[in-house]
Amino acid sequence: MAGILLKPTSSLLIVLTCFFSSSVATSGAGKPHRFSRTLLPESVGLKQEETATHLHFYFHDILGGTNPTAVPIVEAAATKTSATAFGRVIMMDDPLTETLEATSKLVGRCQGFYAYASQSEFSFLMVMNFAFTEGEYNGSTLSVLGRNPVQSTVREMPVVGGTGLFRFARGYAQAETRTFDLKTGDAVVEYNVFVVH
Ligand SMILES: *[C@@H]1O[C@H](CO)[C@@H](O)[C@H](O)[C@H]1NC(C)=O
Repeated sequence: MAGILLKPTSSLLIVLTCFFSSSVATSGAGKPHRFSRTLLPESVGLKQEETATHLHFYFHDILGGTNPTAVPIVEAAATKTSATAFGRVIMMDDPLTETLEATSKLVGRCQGFYAYASQSEFSFLMVMNFAFTEGEYNGSTLSVLGRNPVQSTVREMPVVGGTGLFRFARGYAQAETRTFDLKTGDAVVEYNVFVVH
């Protein structure tokens, strides 16, 4: 069978997989349904040698004006009396651009939400997907889930996964606020993202 062309460990996996699937196939009528099966890493595109990528872009969080890209969606009763707006949630569909200028080339969008998660400082829970639209990364995404204490100079958040070219991605994102408008809350944040995938 196929195992003869593969390494000993791989053939063992195939033998075990075949054994598992045939034992389950007999237990139900019609098409066999398996809860799990072992795959060869290459069969799902997991390369033996990983690629490391550095992405650099600017995130524009626009709350003011007539075309906001970030809107408050939830607030607790206690948020009004909280010095750190604890409990507020903002939904965003923020443009990501190549340079600091909002009119520079769009490389993607950041879609997700951030929640005011601290009672003692301005610190957000970030739940966001970077959906890239530029060049080879068009259609690929990275998911970030992390803590963002916005008054710190550099904030680091984990990249927990990705799609497309970023399948199996893991890494980290570093955020540094470049401009912040106290009146509107508008901010431009520089992102440096390092991922292996
Ligand atoms: C990205 O992909 C979409 C869908 O395939 C396509 O319509 C669009 O023109 C592409 N954008 C760029 C900048 O290549």
